[in-house]
Amino acid sequence: MALLPILEFPDPRLRTKAAQVDPAQVTSPEFQGLVDDMFETMYAAPGIGLAATQVDRHLRFMVIDVSEDKSAPMVFINPEIVSSQGKRAYQEGCLSIPGIYADVTRADTIVVRYLDREGKQQELPAEGLLATCIQHEIDHLDGKLFVDYLSPLKREMVRKKLAKARRHAA
Ligand code: NI
Repeated sequence: MALLPILEFPDPRLRTKAAQVDPAQVTSPEFQGLVDDMFETMYAAPGIGLAATQVDRHLRFMVIDVSEDKSAPMVFINPEIVSSQGKRAYQEGCLSIPGIYADVTRADTIVVRYLDREGKQQELPAEGLLATCIQHEIDHLDGKLFVDYLSPLKREMVRKKLAKARRHAA
């Protein structure tokens, strides 16, 4: 397994729209290895969700684990939200936008259809944090970031703050 570099805002590669995963490729060693690397990268960060877009692999899938003890790893391949209800604001963060947190309003409960790691089609009802996380990661696959929900002024402040943090780190 290997840690993968995570792209950071405003890297233009984060704006790439990911391509569907070929279901016939899901069980291939290459794809399974990439899934393992994504889990390792997400847990090491540490984070609760990571979309392939964030590691510069532009395929529609993501890994998520919202448990406190890394006991609930989930892989969503070609995810599609088939229904959604209600609204709820959560304070979100993102491994591609380190140190920045902001409230984002999304659907409170969703049903997501996807292929699991074995390539089997699943339909999962999700609510609360998991529902927020799934919507956040699907946004990544569409080239969208949570700062896109903020005002242009606030987004510019985020960009400057990250640029400054990078200068200090260099
Ligand atoms: Ni994110």
